[in-house]
Order: sequence, then C-alpha cells, then structure tokens
Amino acid sequence: GVYSFEDSPFIMEILTELRDERTGPIPFRKGLVKLGRYMAYELTKTMETEKVPVRTPLEETEGVLIKDRRNVVIITVLRAAIPLMEGLIKVLDHARVGIVSASRGKAPKFEIEMKYVKVPQVKPEDTVIIADPMIATGSTLIRVLDEVKKYGKAKRYVIVGVLAAPEGISRIKEAHPDVEMFVAAIDRELNEKGYILPGLGDAGDRAFG
Ligand code: PRP
Repeated sequence: GVYSFEDSPFIMEILTELRDERTGPIPFRKGLVKLGRYMAYELTKTMETEKVPVRTPLEETEGVLIKDRRNVVIITVLRAAIPLMEGLIKVLDHARVGIVSASRGKAPKFEIEMKYVKVPQVKPEDTVIIADPMIATGSTLIRVLDEVKKYGKAKRYVIVGVLAAPEGISRIKEAHPDVEMFVAAIDRELNEKGYILPGLGDAGDRAFG
C-alpha cells in the first residue's frame, strides 16, 4: 500500500515550511525531524499489537504493547535522511540503524552509485524502514532495496519519505511489489532533471548546504 497524509493538517503544515524557499537549513532539518516523528507515529497504527496486563497503583487493568516496534531496522539513505531518521527513532526507539550512501548520476541515465553500505542483520520478524525524503525517479530506492534484501528477509519493507512523484511510486511498485510507502504527500510530476514538482528542491542541499 501507498499511504500519504494530505488529510493531516499538522503534517501538511510541516511540509509547507519544508517547501518554502525561505526556510533555512536549521528549520529545514527541524522540520524533517518532526516529520519523521509523526510518520513513525502513523506507522505504529499499522503495527501488530498485543494486550498486556498492567498494574496501576490501584488495580490491575489491560494495556497495549506494540510488538513490531521492538523489531525495527531503519536504513538511512545519505544525506537527506539523517534528520528524518532522527525523528523516526524517537518513536521507534528500539530500532537498529543501517547507513547507506546512494548518489544519483545525471540525466538521462540517473545511474546510482553506492559507495558505503552498513546494514545490520535483518530477522524475519523485522520491519525494515528505508528513510529517504525524496522519491523522484525511484532509482535510488530500487537500488537500496536490492542491496538491503541481501541482509535477510524481513516481515515488512516500508519506505518513509516526504514527497514522492507518481513515476517513482510506480517504478518502485514494479521492481519491489512487496514494499509499502509512507509519504507526507504525492506531488504532481518530475521535471527533465528528475526533480519533483512542485517539490521542495534538493533535500540534501537544503538540510546540509
Ligand atoms: C536525492 C534524494 C534521494 C534521491 C531521489 O538524493 O535524497 O536519495 O535523490 O532520487 P531518485 O528517486 O530519482 O533516485 P541526492 O542524490 O540529491 O543526494 P544528497 O541527499 O546527498 O544530496
């Protein structure tokens, strides 16, 4: 499934600040951290839970444990996903974290180069979250998923991003039909340089210069 949160005013307000060309690197990074936190919160709504007994100072009652929250691997795609991961891990605080680099070449081929890959062992009960703010052509994430799947078969693969272009979503679905996508919003289209429109520009540059 592909989930977007155009109906969530708070997520849309954060996205508006990220889109605004006047937003400098400090509030831009803060916006990504906030968004990561709220996207993780939305993701927990789709996770398996368990009823657990809990004793208050007064009596015994029933509580909830989100089982899947204990089994999470977050893959951070450099550079722009760093603040997004920071937000995700605030909610998914048991997560193990992998770091990968992936840089996109120039049009028309957009070839992906992965120079650094450090991924923890993936277990069958794990939810693997791949954090990357921008799903443009989808090439980066297809390549990252190819690589990450070598580390073991997970229960779920979920991409968490900020913006996606329709073209990127369909390409990822075709290459990896088992992957779910959580994005703040789905934008209109890609331009000839492979940038999302209206988008927010180059997330890596806007966050880190
Ligand atoms: C951006 C973005 C994605 C990728 C998306 O990274 O963060 O990783 O491009 O494009 P795609 O869907 O067409 O593959 P960029 O290459 O600008 O690297 P940076 O974050 O280090 O600036």
